[in-house]
Amino acid sequence: MAIDERFLDELTNRLDMIDVVSRYVHLDKKSGRWWGCCPFHNEKTPSFTVDPDKKVFYCFGCREGGGLIAFVEKVEKLEFPDAVSLLARMAGMEVPTDEREQAAYRRRGRMLNLNREAARFFHENLTGDQAQPAKEYMAERRIAPRMVSRFGLGYAPDKWDALITAMANKGYDKADLLDAGLAVKNEKGRIYDRFRNRLIFPIIDVSGNVLAFGGRVLDDSKPKYLNSPESYVYHKSDNLFALNLAKNTTEPNYIIAEGYMDVLMLHQAGFTNAVASLGTALTEEQCDLLKKRTGEVILCYDSDEAGQRATERAIELLRARDVKIRILRMKGAKDPDEYIKKNGADAFRALLEESENSSAYRLEKIRAKYDLSDDDGKLAFLNEAVGLVSGFRSAIEIELFAGKLAETTGIRRETIETEIRKAQTRKRRQTERREMRETLRPAGIAEKPAGNLRYRNVRLAQAVEGVISLVAANPELLREAESSLADEAPGEEALIHIWKAVKKAIKAGTAVNPDLLSDLLSPDERKLLSGLLMKTPDGPPRETLGEYLAAVEMETAKAKARGGTTEDLTALLKLKKEQSRT
Ligand code: UTP
Ligand code: MN
Repeated sequence: MAIDERFLDELTNRLDMIDVVSRYVHLDKKSGRWWGCCPFHNEKTPSFTVDPDKKVFYCFGCREGGGLIAFVEKVEKLEFPDAVSLLARMAGMEVPTDEREQAAYRRRGRMLNLNREAARFFHENLTGDQAQPAKEYMAERRIAPRMVSRFGLGYAPDKWDALITAMANKGYDKADLLDAGLAVKNEKGRIYDRFRNRLIFPIIDVSGNVLAFGGRVLDDSKPKYLNSPESYVYHKSDNLFALNLAKNTTEPNYIIAEGYMDVLMLHQAGFTNAVASLGTALTEEQCDLLKKRTGEVILCYDSDEAGQRATERAIELLRARDVKIRILRMKGAKDPDEYIKKNGADAFRALLEESENSSAYRLEKIRAKYDLSDDDGKLAFLNEAVGLVSGFRSAIEIELFAGKLAETTGIRRETIETEIRKAQTRKRRQTERREMRETLRPAGIAEKPAGNLRYRNVRLAQAVEGVISLVAANPELLREAESSLADEAPGEEALIHIWKAVKKAIKAGTAVNPDLLSDLLSPDERKLLSGLLMKTPDGPPRETLGEYLAAVEMETAKAKARGGTTEDLTALLKLKKEQSRT
């Protein structure tokens, strides 16, 4: 009997890929990714990388790659089923051997699919006509429209059975909805929607599974928030709200707030490293999740008594795990949402930087190096200090330090501010140039795909690689990409296969995991896919997708102009293959 796909999914989800790979390779975390020396070829500088969220490894040197199971197969030189057994032992799971056990995994899969459908239903409602009260409420709370898609916000209509009816059309019955906590039963046995006339916040894990929902009333009635109960797929204490978004942060730390609305406002104001522990004090499991991802946490709980108690508790748990802690203190507001609305994002950033309080310290350290009574010394000091201050992200703080610098050196404040602005422009240009280079070479794989694969049209392949990387990382872009990139359009056979496989996985609601696609992809194609999953292009996804699709179109047109369309080439190759077989 083939091993159930849902079991494999659960197995790879349950294990921490970093823990497993670290048994064989020493890994270091650099810019949000784990790197080590490749166990599959000889090297002295690390080009082997692991992404624990996507559950893939890839070596930029030898182009070996795959999922967790493929890694164990290779490193232990095992056959697939034996690699699975070994991993199952590590995870404390048993490989399902009978129908009943397999059914448990299917149940999890079914519930996740239902949650995804429900999230889609709520989300589509929020963009429809009957959502007027929710839209008014959002406007009142100053939630920007772009946050609706970022967070997948939704609206539960003011009806007893809107969701039940909508899900019945998708093949889910009341028992399914009760199971998932989407419906409730009263004493009389009547079953109705749990969420009614509420603004919906889906809770999504790092693999993109919709686990549960929170729903806020649109007025002052009680309870203010309703949450999904614990279920087969949702364990409240194991999850952090918005970790699916915050996991992509390049900040060296995470901000922890109390509630849905705080996190939403923080993201809206540009603090995309914010997560929430959802009302409860931080749990042991949540601390473990954080410890895995960051060395520093900024606690930003409400300023009321409950918030302060939660802070104490969090400090205790995080200290025990050697996580650095900073505590942000807000005056004149009860929570980050309120603070940002009153004082703006810059003021909040100043609070963040104050909570570190290292700016003044760093400036003082530079000052101590120079003799300020001497003109040369003054100049050298200013040069270095301007470099430091121009890197501060809070406008308020920059202004503050510009004043201080003018005071210490006796140089006019305007002159110093001009120098700071120049330094900022230089820095911005540098990052823009870097980003540009990265966007142009999305996966950087096209030159030499994997194993024995070679592309015939590298430029077209590059653009298609960009589309695939983006869609795999942002499944919500599938519809748009699909309408422009037909099944056969990628030209190269390997990319046609991968494009089909990625589409299929997204539609089935499973993660794009090379380990699970062995029936659709050859070993080399799975390696190539791992590389594509590993290198997601920078930049706003939707716009970047547009650029790649345009590039595909242009390269396809060029190929046509050169004679022989890409389709012709593929057909020709197929024909040749068939001929050589007969
Ligand atoms: P708060 O009452 O501080 O909520 O509770 P908030 O996020 O500031 O909400 P707004 O600004 O009034 O919209 C913090 C968190 O506690 C949980 C929620 O997760 C909430 O975000 N909570 C609160 C509930 O689950 N149920 C409730 O009735 C209230
Ligand atoms: Mn609030």
